Amino acid sequence: MKNAVAIDLGSANTVIYQVGGGVVLSEPSVVAFDVGSKKKVKAVGKEAKNLIGKTADGTEIVFPVVEGQIVDEKAAGAMVENFLNKISTNKFGLRPQVLLSIPCGLDNAEIKQYERAFNSAGVYGIDFVESPILSALGSDAPITTSTPCFIIDIGGGSTNIAAVSLDGVIAGVNIGIGGNSIDATIIKCVEREYGLKIGSLTAEKLKISIGSLYENEVNYAQINGRDIAGGKPRSVTVPSGKIYSPIKHVLDKIFEVADMVMSKLPAEVSAEIRSNGVYLAGGTAKIPGVAEYFSRTMAIRANLAEYPDLANAIGGSKVAANHSLLKKVRIHA
Ligand SMILES: Nc1ncnc2c1ncn2[C@@H]1O[C@H](COP(=O)(O)OP(=O)(O)OP(=O)(O)O)[C@@H](O)[C@H]1O
Ligand SMILES: [Mg+2]
Repeated sequence: MKNAVAIDLGSANTVIYQVGGGVVLSEPSVVAFDVGSKKKVKAVGKEAKNLIGKTADGTEIVFPVVEGQIVDEKAAGAMVENFLNKISTNKFGLRPQVLLSIPCGLDNAEIKQYERAFNSAGVYGIDFVESPILSALGSDAPITTSTPCFIIDIGGGSTNIAAVSLDGVIAGVNIGIGGNSIDATIIKCVEREYGLKIGSLTAEKLKISIGSLYENEVNYAQINGRDIAGGKPRSVTVPSGKIYSPIKHVLDKIFEVADMVMSKLPAEVSAEIRSNGVYLAGGTAKIPGVAEYFSRTMAIRANLAEYPDLANAIGGSKVAANHSLLKKVRIHA
């Protein structure tokens, strides 16, 4: 049996899709190391994320991927190796053939870095495909060699905005704004409004539980933090309206860049995109009302992927399962 997987090595989350088997892993892209004489892996994924802010000096928490790109090759290799070991087929010693999503426009040296990290994780072989093509395929966009589509993948550390066809990326940018920027803005907002200091995990939970771009929606969430003046722990109940503007602020910036990319497209491409609408993917696109908000402000239909946070890996699995498609879209290192 062939062991083929598609991997989306995101700055926030790693998703592994087993061809023929579905999503077999979705965990935070985090490693915790024991900083002894030999740097040993203490925890990866969910377990490592739970250690954030709670560890003593002996533990180092590493996010090996930042803004969609590997910044720590060794940590990335260790993380991927641990993730692959969690997947059952790997336990029979069947090393996987990996289809990996990479940011657009990497040079050869940067691609080699991915190759080294994955080889150290013990993969059989690796193919590279540029991220927006996979997110488009995984969002069921009608993309072919002659039909371009416009994809906005709003992730944790970055947002990929691109017009793509199966021939490649027509125009695109990768900006360092995403869900993490919303969390950071929420932290500041809670500090200002309630005099309360909260951590990034709390800000993220608040965003996921009550964040919305439906201005009139009212939900509440209770959060714990530290009183800035007195230093004591304190909890407050936050209504969704309070975090509407941090969310809107970040998405407005993203949509402004999307508008700029769109305005520079060749006329034929632009006409095709206007008639099909844009496609939204990435975990941050799960905020309720994102597609409607986009359509309203940009006057273009927005199609939300069925599984926004998994779209990239789903697209990867479609390519990994189709040899002629793979030949068409893979990048040669
Ligand atoms: N239901 C939800 N509502 C709002 N935000 C969410 C939800 N689920 C996940 N997110 C946010 O989505 C972001 C992660 O998205 P995703 O998994 O697409 O990122 P990534 O691919 O790891 O990052 P990048 O593409 O920047 O490298 C995080 O900021 C997370 O808080
Ligand atoms: Mg991503």
